[in-house]
Amino acid sequence: VPVKNRHIIVERYGGPEVLKLTESEMPLLKAGYVRVRILAAGVSYADLLMREGVHPETPPVPFTPGWDFVGSVYAVGEGVPYFALRQMVAGIPIHGGYAQYIDMPANELIPIPAHLNPLQVACLIFNYTTAYQMLYRVAHAQPRQRALIHSAGGGIGTALLQLGRLYGLEMYGTASLSKHSLLRSLNCIPIDYKQQDFVAAVRHFAPEGVDMVFDGIGGPHTWRSWQVLRPGGQVITYGLTSSLEKGQRGQSRRGRLIGLPQIFIYIARSYVSRGRKRVRLYSIQNLRRLRPDWFKTDIQQLFELLKDRRIEPVIAECISLEGVEDAHRKIGTGGVSGKIVINMT
Ligand SMILES: NC(=O)c1ccc[n+]([C@@H]2O[C@H](COP(=O)([O-])OP(=O)(O)OC[C@H]3O[C@@H](n4cnc5c(N)ncnc54)[C@H](OP(=O)(O)O)[C@@H]3O)[C@@H](O)[C@H]2O)c1
Repeated sequence: VPVKNRHIIVERYGGPEVLKLTESEMPLLKAGYVRVRILAAGVSYADLLMREGVHPETPPVPFTPGWDFVGSVYAVGEGVPYFALRQMVAGIPIHGGYAQYIDMPANELIPIPAHLNPLQVACLIFNYTTAYQMLYRVAHAQPRQRALIHSAGGGIGTALLQLGRLYGLEMYGTASLSKHSLLRSLNCIPIDYKQQDFVAAVRHFAPEGVDMVFDGIGGPHTWRSWQVLRPGGQVITYGLTSSLEKGQRGQSRRGRLIGLPQIFIYIARSYVSRGRKRVRLYSIQNLRRLRPDWFKTDIQQLFELLKDRRIEPVIAECISLEGVEDAHRKIGTGGVSGKIVINMT
């Protein structure tokens, strides 16, 4: 039976207006693949970077954005014995989540315990895995260490705060004023980065410096983060938020050509600078390709934490596919607390 698929496409790289809702027929399901009916998909800043064509993983246009999804198995391709129809699964296809259906290689799907809420798992699968791996696989965070978390009220930021609180970190976070009560409720001392120089603010709270900084902003911001480290500390750089201005590339010359190479320059500079203060890069897709076993165990750990309600993802808003353009505008201009989720149920 032909399957009609409503989905969003990026026709050409550009602002939120390039996102178009369309419908097409799903192709024949290939051997080794599973067709998933998507129940919930994340909308994240990385999707904006892809829409503008500045993310290193951006595919050629036209493409369907959407890094992460949760869904139920709709059909199983030849040679896939281990998935049952209607079984809950999740995936990080990097693009393709803004759709009713997606075909995924069976070995890339993550089985989800049936009792978990798909909307919450949609937050977990990308944001919390990123946060968890940065904290424990890269920074090796220990109780009572000090951490500065940039964009602390955002999708990754709130995940870092909830996991950091769980493991007893002392946390400072940059965010717009409207998010400060959320930050305080997660045991974080807020810094209004729009009104205050964050380097001066952190030096005020922690004159000896912090053990780790999580910097998704990128560019020269990375080096300012380096300045608040104590000797032996590290900046985990993981994003290119500053490649866009108000969520758009516009006429800016910043972006793909500058974002990543600049980070590598700061990494190298940290190795030749005094104080054993390092800049290190984290990328979920690269670590997953390198260590798929870590990815699997970390996700299981997060499912346990969710089941025991020790973490509770902050869902900013649930939207439909029609609301995606507006969601991109909101994320681009800031002020979104937690993660926006497309609810397809
Ligand atoms: N490396 C990886 O594996 C990986 C994985 C996932 C995401 N990422 C990256 O992580 C970053 C965050 O993603 P997200 O989806 O969680 O986005 P987000 O943090 O929810 O949204 C971006 C937020 O950044 C804040 N912001 C902008 N400029 C800032 C500045 N100079 N200082 C402090 N905060 C600033 C704004 O917060 P206010 O409203 O507070 O102003 C805005 O809401 C993106 O660059 C994304 O590409 C990387």
